[in-house]
Amino acid sequence: MRTQVAIVGGGPSGLLLSQLLHRKGIDTVVLERKTRDYVLGRIRAGILEVGFVELMREAGVAERMDQECFVHDGTVISYGDEQFGINFKELTGSHVVVYGQTELTRDLYDAREAVDGKIVFNTENVTINDADTDSPNVTYSVDGTEHRIDCDYVAGCDGFHGVSRQTIPLTVRKEYEKVYPFGWLGVLSETPPVHEELIYASSGRGFALCSMRNENLSRYYIQCSLSDSPEDWTDEAFWTELKRRIPADAAERLVTGRSIEKSIAPLRSFVTEPMRWGRLFLCGDAAHIVPPTGAKGLNTAASDIHYLHHALVQFYETGDTDGIDLYSERALARIWKAERFSWWMTNLLHRFPDQSEFDLRMQRAEIEFLRVNREAQSVLAQNYVGLPY
Ligand code: APR
Ligand code: PHB
Repeated sequence: MRTQVAIVGGGPSGLLLSQLLHRKGIDTVVLERKTRDYVLGRIRAGILEVGFVELMREAGVAERMDQECFVHDGTVISYGDEQFGINFKELTGSHVVVYGQTELTRDLYDAREAVDGKIVFNTENVTINDADTDSPNVTYSVDGTEHRIDCDYVAGCDGFHGVSRQTIPLTVRKEYEKVYPFGWLGVLSETPPVHEELIYASSGRGFALCSMRNENLSRYYIQCSLSDSPEDWTDEAFWTELKRRIPADAAERLVTGRSIEKSIAPLRSFVTEPMRWGRLFLCGDAAHIVPPTGAKGLNTAASDIHYLHHALVQFYETGDTDGIDLYSERALARIWKAERFSWWMTNLLHRFPDQSEFDLRMQRAEIEFLRVNREAQSVLAQNYVGLPY
């Protein structure tokens, strides 16, 4: 088989790239290790920057999102029983949009299928060959039968545990990592959200987050120990702990119910450099991970796809490789800023096991400064709504 761009991974990054390239007449094949149902069964974040929304519109897949999403003009930060708002609209003129990653991925799959876009599921042993030459190929097997795709370029959109990053030799690749000493226990429940905006809560018992998907679907998180497993937490224990960490008025209003999903995610900051090796590009989680505190996971993937699809369109339309040559540099310049913001939000709001009394006072002083200082709020707001591409 031959295609112009072989895309490894059918998560949001791979699907969005394939759909954007399709709109410009560029042929792709997406290879996905799992099934569509498996990919859609994963519960992930749901805060989109305006830049992401624009990209979905450019890809022609924004219709349902535009109807069903919720615009958030601000967020709430609480510490102990104190709370204050960060007004994105006033501070930046912009906002974020609430629309679940699951829904967005479903829209992308539907759009690919509507135009007979080629997606191969259940691929095994995906291997990227000759990426440092002018004629790369990707081999893989499905049900024991071997296949090969010859292509011009390969986009590695296969997430943190994929093969694409590993294809870049260690002599070229440099990785930066920070692992945090706690995780997030997340619960999805068919209950109305406790507040119309998200609440990021710093408490003496650890961080908590009140988020949502729609009027009757809420997503809550509490900071937990890395040795915990979801089975250790009954629904009742989760709600009790959440109520202790959020402001009293929110705790009183909170509608609890049966959890329909419960999982623990470790927190990590990770960046690999470079994001291009010859004719192989890395995008999204394959190249970088952020702790979820700044809601940047999906949004950093989107900015990579923005730079890469423009670079490929430029090449196929004009033969100019400028965008391709600059892809890694441009993508990383924005990624590192999102890494900094996510790291900062994480440090500001969590309890760390080795924190001294002094460290706690520093954290508190920083939150109190943020509470009253418009410039500090503006820095948070600019980063949260998304830095320009
Ligand atoms: N071959 C083919 N597919 C693979 C392989 C492989 N060797 N390894 C992994 N995959 C697939 C996974 O099954 C997954 O569906 O690649 C896909 C990668 O998707 P994600 O992990 O979702 O990564 P990405 O598309 O970059 O999305 C960005 O933003 O909210 C965050 O982490 C969250 O998933 C989110 C990410
Ligand atoms: C979510 O809704 O899952 C969510 C929202 C904001 C975050 C992280 C996760 O910072």
